[in-house]
Amino acid sequence: MAIAGKAVLVTGANRGIGQALAAEALARGAKRVYAGAREPVAHPDDRVTSLRLDITDTAQIQAAANQIESLDMLINNAGVMLRDDLTDPAVLEHHLAVNLLGTHAVTQAFLPAVTRSRGAVVNVLSLNALAPLPLLMPSYSVSKAAAFSLTQSLRALVAGQGVRVHAVLPGPVDTDMTRGSDIPMASPESVAAAVFDGIDNGDEEIFPDPASAPIAARWRDSIGKQLERQLAQVALGSS
Ligand SMILES: NC(=O)c1ccc[n+]([C@@H]2O[C@H](COP(=O)([O-])OP(=O)(O)OC[C@H]3O[C@@H](n4cnc5c(N)ncnc54)[C@H](OP(=O)(O)O)[C@@H]3O)[C@@H](O)[C@H]2O)c1
Repeated sequence: MAIAGKAVLVTGANRGIGQALAAEALARGAKRVYAGAREPVAHPDDRVTSLRLDITDTAQIQAAANQIESLDMLINNAGVMLRDDLTDPAVLEHHLAVNLLGTHAVTQAFLPAVTRSRGAVVNVLSLNALAPLPLLMPSYSVSKAAAFSLTQSLRALVAGQGVRVHAVLPGPVDTDMTRGSDIPMASPESVAAAVFDGIDNGDEEIFPDPASAPIAARWRDSIGKQLERQLAQVALGSS
């Protein structure tokens, strides 16, 4: 689906990858960009509508959904990453509250609008959805793996209504989230461009940077992808 002439909502649009996704949508001719942020700021482009949207706040999610008339694409980008070692359940709960349950709540609130337009849901996950970084960020990895499963199930559940569901699985990107790391990182702008290219291309999984791109072909032919397709056909009563 090309974004030109379409309405898109990006969560966490105030900085990092979310800000780059909003800018790329505008550059590609989006008709309207709803920029969700916990602290919304005015944007010079009059195609941008700023929305107050903490993805863990049910009332804010509902208020935002009431404000939107039509929506072609929901990009669930907002997320948190704290380093941990799995010893503190509160850290795991926080990751799940934002990266999994927040993504789920926003999706459910906007799915009726996306379904009416036969649009797309795009979940920004991480390569750590496929394999964890246990010595650095195991709780983050758990939350992204769970959000990937959520993405796969949603894909099967809404496919019959013409809604496309994409998973974005980036490697390291140069944002506040990775500040202080000395590993090679992609720019948020290059990742945003690759995300929209992947959506245009109909890629279910989008690997948008040099670290993740080599995985794309192997993922498409993997046992994980084959099983996803096979199990998506299994329904109650089928043998
Ligand atoms: N950077 C990487 O290397 C990398 C790699 C793979 C995947 N990702 C994923 O890419 C997405 C964006 O990350 P980033 O690198 O751009 O990180 P970032 O610069 O730290 O930005 C995170 C964004 O999420 C927002 N956010 C956090 N909690 C929120 C909440 N409860 N409600 C609404 N917004 C919330 C932040 O808003 P505030 O400004 O209000 O805090 C901010 O806009 C995340 O899902 C992340 O997991 C990043």
